[in-house]
Amino acid sequence: MITKCLFPAAGYGTRFLPATKSIPKEMLPIVNKPLIQYGVEEALQAGMHDIAIVTGKGKHAIEDLFDRNPVLEAAVAGSDKERLLENTNRLIASCTFSYTRQKQMRGLGDAILTGEPLIGDQPFGVVLADDLCIGENDHDGVLGQMAALYAEHGCSLVAVEEVAPEETHKYGVVAGVEIAPGLYEVHEMMEKPAPGEAPSNLAIIGRYILTPRVFELLRHTPPGRGGEVQITDALRRQAREERVLAWRFRGRRFDCGSVHGFVEATNHFYRKCFAGSD
Ligand code: G1P
Repeated sequence: MITKCLFPAAGYGTRFLPATKSIPKEMLPIVNKPLIQYGVEEALQAGMHDIAIVTGKGKHAIEDLFDRNPVLEAAVAGSDKERLLENTNRLIASCTFSYTRQKQMRGLGDAILTGEPLIGDQPFGVVLADDLCIGENDHDGVLGQMAALYAEHGCSLVAVEEVAPEETHKYGVVAGVEIAPGLYEVHEMMEKPAPGEAPSNLAIIGRYILTPRVFELLRHTPPGRGGEVQITDALRRQAREERVLAWRFRGRRFDCGSVHGFVEATNHFYRKCFAGSD
Protein backbone atom coordinates (compact mmCIF):
# COMPACT_ATOMS: atom_id res chain seq x y z
CA MET A 1 0.00 0.00 0.00
CA ILE A 2 1.48 3.36 -1.03
CA THR A 3 0.69 6.11 1.47
CA LYS A 4 2.91 8.99 0.35
CA CYS A 5 2.48 11.35 -2.54
CA LEU A 6 4.91 14.06 -3.63
CA PHE A 7 3.80 17.32 -5.22
CA PRO A 8 6.61 19.27 -6.89
CA ALA A 9 5.28 22.82 -6.58
CA ALA A 10 8.26 25.12 -6.82
CA GLY A 11 7.79 26.32 -10.43
CA TYR A 12 7.03 29.92 -11.35
CA GLY A 13 4.10 29.33 -13.71
CA THR A 14 5.33 32.05 -16.05
CA ARG A 15 2.68 31.27 -18.66
CA PHE A 16 0.11 32.67 -16.25
CA LEU A 17 1.85 35.95 -15.44
CA PRO A 18 0.83 38.39 -14.11
CA ALA A 19 -1.51 36.22 -11.95
CA THR A 20 1.40 34.01 -10.87
CA LYS A 21 3.47 37.00 -9.79
CA SER A 22 1.77 36.81 -6.41
CA ILE A 23 -0.26 33.57 -6.53
CA PRO A 24 1.38 30.12 -6.77
CA LYS A 25 0.32 28.51 -10.06
CA GLU A 26 -0.90 25.53 -8.04
CA MET A 27 -3.44 27.86 -6.39
CA LEU A 28 -5.06 29.02 -9.62
CA PRO A 29 -8.67 27.88 -9.37
CA ILE A 30 -10.57 25.72 -11.78
CA VAL A 31 -13.92 27.40 -11.05
CA ASN A 32 -13.60 27.68 -7.25
CA LYS A 33 -11.14 24.92 -6.37
CA PRO A 34 -7.35 25.42 -6.53
CA LEU A 35 -5.53 23.11 -8.95
CA ILE A 36 -3.49 21.46 -6.20
CA GLN A 37 -6.62 20.49 -4.29
CA TYR A 38 -7.82 18.42 -7.26
CA GLY A 39 -4.47 16.62 -7.11
CA VAL A 40 -4.62 15.99 -3.36
CA GLU A 41 -8.18 14.65 -3.70
CA GLU A 42 -6.93 12.23 -6.38
CA ALA A 43 -4.01 11.15 -4.16
CA LEU A 44 -6.27 10.53 -1.17
CA GLN A 45 -8.66 8.52 -3.32
CA ALA A 46 -5.67 6.36 -4.27
CA GLY A 47 -4.95 5.76 -0.55
CA MET A 48 -2.05 8.24 -0.37
CA HIS A 49 -2.77 10.32 2.69
CA ASP A 50 0.71 11.60 3.47
CA ILE A 51 1.13 14.60 1.21
CA ALA A 52 4.66 15.92 0.68
CA ILE A 53 4.98 19.23 -1.13
CA VAL A 54 8.20 20.67 -2.57
CA THR A 55 7.76 24.42 -2.63
CA GLY A 56 9.77 27.55 -3.29
CA LYS A 57 9.51 31.26 -2.69
CA GLY A 58 6.03 32.78 -2.50
CA LYS A 59 4.16 29.50 -2.01
CA HIS A 60 2.71 30.14 1.44
CA ALA A 61 -0.83 30.16 0.11
CA ILE A 62 -0.58 26.38 -0.40
CA GLU A 63 0.11 25.85 3.31
CA ASP A 64 -2.79 28.11 4.24
CA LEU A 65 -5.15 26.16 1.96
CA PHE A 66 -4.39 22.90 3.76
CA ASP A 67 -4.81 24.33 7.23
CA ARG A 68 -7.95 25.04 9.25
CA ASN A 69 -9.03 28.68 9.44
CA PRO A 70 -11.24 29.10 12.55
CA VAL A 71 -12.00 32.79 11.91
CA LEU A 72 -13.21 32.13 8.35
CA GLU A 73 -15.11 29.01 9.43
CA ALA A 74 -16.89 31.00 12.16
CA ALA A 75 -17.76 33.70 9.62
CA VAL A 76 -19.53 31.26 7.26
CA ALA A 77 -20.95 28.94 9.96
CA GLY A 78 -24.67 28.44 9.48
CA SER A 79 -24.68 30.06 6.01
CA ASP A 80 -25.01 28.36 2.65
CA LYS A 81 -21.26 28.99 2.14
CA GLU A 82 -20.29 26.57 4.91
CA ARG A 83 -20.47 23.56 2.61
CA LEU A 84 -17.87 25.14 0.29
CA LEU A 85 -15.20 24.41 2.90
CA GLU A 86 -16.33 20.84 3.61
CA ASN A 87 -14.13 19.10 1.07
CA THR A 88 -11.00 21.01 2.05
CA ASN A 89 -11.61 20.30 5.73
CA ARG A 90 -12.10 16.62 4.90
CA LEU A 91 -8.66 16.58 3.25
CA ILE A 92 -7.11 18.38 6.24
CA ALA A 93 -8.65 15.79 8.59
CA SER A 94 -7.63 12.79 6.47
CA CYS A 95 -4.11 13.75 5.34
CA THR A 96 -0.79 14.89 6.75
CA PHE A 97 0.96 17.72 4.92
CA SER A 98 4.69 18.26 5.00
CA TYR A 99 6.78 20.77 3.10
CA THR A 100 10.32 21.29 2.01
CA ARG A 101 11.87 23.91 -0.23
CA GLN A 102 13.80 23.39 -3.42
CA LYS A 103 16.98 25.46 -3.09
CA GLN A 104 17.47 26.16 -6.79
CA MET A 105 15.21 25.61 -9.80
CA ARG A 106 17.18 22.72 -11.29
CA GLY A 107 14.35 20.77 -12.89
CA LEU A 108 11.67 18.21 -12.06
CA GLY A 109 14.21 15.50 -11.24
CA ASP A 110 15.91 17.78 -8.73
CA ALA A 111 12.54 18.76 -7.22
CA ILE A 112 11.70 15.07 -6.72
CA LEU A 113 15.11 14.43 -5.14
CA THR A 114 14.53 17.40 -2.84
CA GLY A 115 11.46 15.54 -1.54
CA GLU A 116 13.48 12.49 -0.47
CA PRO A 117 13.62 13.40 3.26
CA LEU A 118 9.80 13.64 3.27
CA ILE A 119 9.37 10.31 1.46
CA GLY A 120 12.11 8.06 2.83
CA ASP A 121 12.75 4.54 1.66
CA GLN A 122 9.37 3.62 0.24
CA PRO A 123 7.43 3.76 -3.04
CA PHE A 124 5.47 6.97 -3.60
CA GLY A 125 3.16 8.75 -5.99
CA VAL A 126 4.02 11.98 -7.80
CA VAL A 127 1.41 14.46 -8.96
CA LEU A 128 2.15 17.46 -11.17
CA ALA A 129 -0.81 19.61 -10.21
CA ASP A 130 -1.04 21.47 -13.50
CA ASP A 131 -2.02 18.22 -15.19
CA LEU A 132 -5.58 17.89 -13.91
CA CYS A 133 -6.71 14.30 -14.41
CA ILE A 134 -10.12 12.71 -14.13
CA GLY A 135 -10.93 9.02 -14.36
CA GLU A 136 -13.83 7.59 -16.30
CA ASN A 137 -15.96 8.00 -13.21
CA ASP A 138 -15.59 9.68 -9.82
CA HIS A 139 -14.17 6.53 -8.19
CA ASP A 140 -11.54 5.72 -10.77
CA GLY A 141 -8.79 8.36 -10.45
CA VAL A 142 -5.63 7.98 -12.51
CA LEU A 143 -3.34 7.65 -9.49
CA GLY A 144 -5.68 4.96 -8.09
CA GLN A 145 -5.43 3.05 -11.38
CA MET A 146 -1.63 3.23 -11.06
CA ALA A 147 -1.60 2.20 -7.39
CA ALA A 148 -3.51 -0.95 -8.38
CA LEU A 149 -0.90 -1.67 -11.07
CA TYR A 150 1.92 -1.07 -8.58
CA ALA A 151 0.35 -3.61 -6.23
CA GLU A 152 0.54 -6.15 -9.06
CA HIS A 153 3.93 -5.29 -10.62
CA GLY A 154 5.95 -3.54 -7.88
CA CYS A 155 7.95 -1.26 -10.21
CA SER A 156 8.04 2.41 -11.21
CA LEU A 157 5.15 3.51 -13.42
CA VAL A 158 4.41 6.56 -15.55
CA ALA A 159 1.03 7.60 -16.92
CA VAL A 160 0.96 8.22 -20.65
CA GLU A 161 -1.45 9.39 -23.29
CA GLU A 162 -1.27 9.41 -27.06
CA VAL A 163 -0.61 12.87 -28.47
CA ALA A 164 -0.35 14.16 -32.03
CA PRO A 165 3.17 13.70 -33.48
CA GLU A 166 3.64 17.50 -33.67
CA GLU A 167 3.06 17.70 -29.89
CA THR A 168 5.66 15.16 -28.74
CA HIS A 169 8.42 17.79 -28.29
CA LYS A 170 6.52 19.19 -25.28
CA TYR A 171 6.66 15.96 -23.26
CA GLY A 172 8.69 13.10 -21.98
CA VAL A 173 8.02 10.35 -24.54
CA VAL A 174 8.21 6.60 -23.94
CA ALA A 175 8.39 3.63 -26.28
CA GLY A 176 7.86 0.03 -25.29
CA VAL A 177 6.02 -3.23 -25.78
CA GLU A 178 2.33 -3.45 -24.91
CA ILE A 179 2.19 -6.37 -22.44
CA ALA A 180 -1.51 -5.95 -21.58
CA PRO A 181 -4.15 -3.57 -22.95
CA GLY A 182 -2.84 -0.06 -22.22
CA LEU A 183 0.20 -1.29 -20.25
CA TYR A 184 3.68 -0.96 -21.79
CA GLU A 185 7.03 -2.30 -20.72
CA VAL A 186 9.23 0.73 -21.34
CA HIS A 187 12.35 0.33 -23.45
CA GLU A 188 13.07 3.94 -24.37
CA MET A 189 12.33 7.31 -22.82
CA MET A 190 13.27 10.77 -24.07
CA GLU A 191 12.63 14.14 -22.50
CA LYS A 192 11.10 16.57 -25.01
CA PRO A 193 12.52 14.97 -28.17
CA ALA A 194 13.24 17.27 -31.12
CA PRO A 195 10.59 17.15 -33.87
CA GLY A 196 10.95 13.92 -35.82
CA GLU A 197 13.01 12.19 -33.12
CA ALA A 198 10.26 10.96 -30.80
CA PRO A 199 10.38 7.17 -30.35
CA SER A 200 6.54 7.06 -30.28
CA ASN A 201 3.56 9.33 -29.62
CA LEU A 202 3.09 8.11 -26.02
CA ALA A 203 3.58 11.23 -23.89
CA ILE A 204 4.19 11.15 -20.14
CA ILE A 205 1.62 13.12 -18.19
CA GLY A 206 2.05 14.34 -14.63
CA ARG A 207 1.37 11.12 -12.69
CA TYR A 208 4.09 8.74 -11.56
CA ILE A 209 4.58 5.97 -9.07
CA LEU A 210 8.25 5.68 -8.21
CA THR A 211 10.29 3.22 -6.23
CA PRO A 212 12.82 4.78 -3.81
CA ARG A 213 15.70 3.58 -6.01
CA VAL A 214 14.82 6.58 -8.18
CA PHE A 215 16.43 8.86 -5.58
CA GLU A 216 19.73 7.06 -6.00
CA LEU A 217 19.43 7.29 -9.78
CA LEU A 218 18.58 11.00 -9.60
CA ARG A 219 21.68 11.66 -7.51
CA HIS A 220 23.73 10.44 -10.46
CA THR A 221 21.67 11.96 -13.26
CA PRO A 222 23.45 14.86 -14.97
CA PRO A 223 21.46 17.86 -16.22
CA GLY A 224 19.71 16.98 -19.48
CA ARG A 225 17.16 18.79 -21.65
CA GLY A 226 17.08 22.50 -20.85
CA GLY A 227 20.11 22.13 -18.55
CA GLU A 228 17.82 20.62 -15.89
CA VAL A 229 17.89 17.31 -14.01
CA GLN A 230 15.12 15.30 -15.67
CA ILE A 231 13.13 12.51 -14.00
CA THR A 232 12.71 11.05 -17.50
CA ASP A 233 16.50 10.49 -17.70
CA ALA A 234 16.61 8.74 -14.31
CA LEU A 235 13.67 6.54 -15.32
CA ARG A 236 15.31 5.62 -18.62
CA ARG A 237 18.15 4.13 -16.60
CA GLN A 238 15.72 2.38 -14.29
CA ALA A 239 13.92 0.94 -17.33
CA ARG A 240 17.22 -0.47 -18.61
CA GLU A 241 18.50 -1.79 -15.29
CA GLU A 242 15.21 -2.90 -13.71
CA ARG A 243 11.74 -2.31 -15.02
CA VAL A 244 9.46 0.67 -15.71
CA LEU A 245 5.88 0.40 -16.95
CA ALA A 246 3.79 3.02 -18.74
CA TRP A 247 0.03 3.09 -18.30
CA ARG A 248 -2.28 4.56 -20.93
CA PHE A 249 -4.74 5.70 -18.33
CA ARG A 250 -8.53 5.58 -18.47
CA GLY A 251 -9.96 9.06 -18.30
CA ARG A 252 -9.05 12.53 -19.38
CA ARG A 253 -6.27 15.00 -18.66
CA PHE A 254 -6.42 18.75 -18.88
CA ASP A 255 -3.10 20.56 -19.41
CA CYS A 256 -3.79 23.40 -17.00
CA GLY A 257 -0.26 24.68 -17.52
CA SER A 258 -1.57 26.04 -20.84
CA VAL A 259 -4.29 28.64 -21.23
CA HIS A 260 -6.23 26.38 -23.61
CA GLY A 261 -6.25 23.41 -21.20
CA PHE A 262 -7.05 25.66 -18.27
CA VAL A 263 -10.12 27.03 -20.01
CA GLU A 264 -11.19 23.52 -21.12
CA ALA A 265 -10.94 22.29 -17.52
CA THR A 266 -12.86 25.31 -16.30
CA ASN A 267 -15.66 24.64 -18.78
CA HIS A 268 -15.71 20.94 -17.87
CA PHE A 269 -16.00 21.51 -14.12
CA TYR A 270 -18.42 24.37 -14.53
CA ARG A 271 -20.74 22.14 -16.57
CA LYS A 272 -20.27 19.21 -14.16
CA CYS A 273 -20.60 21.00 -10.83
CA PHE A 274 -22.19 24.39 -11.32
CA ALA A 275 -24.32 24.67 -14.46
CA GLY A 276 -27.86 25.58 -13.50
CA SER A 277 -26.91 26.54 -9.94
CA ASP A 278 -26.48 30.31 -10.54
C1 G1P B 1 7.27 17.55 -17.16
C2 G1P B 1 8.14 16.33 -17.50
C3 G1P B 1 7.70 15.72 -18.82
C4 G1P B 1 6.23 15.40 -18.77
C5 G1P B 1 5.41 16.64 -18.37
C6 G1P B 1 3.95 16.27 -18.13
O1 G1P B 1 7.54 18.55 -18.11
O2 G1P B 1 9.49 16.74 -17.54
O3 G1P B 1 8.43 14.55 -19.07
O4 G1P B 1 5.81 14.93 -20.05
O5 G1P B 1 5.90 17.22 -17.16
O6 G1P B 1 3.17 17.40 -17.88
P1 G1P B 1 7.08 20.09 -17.91
O7 G1P B 1 5.66 20.16 -18.39
O8 G1P B 1 7.22 20.40 -16.46
O9 G1P B 1 8.00 20.89 -18.78
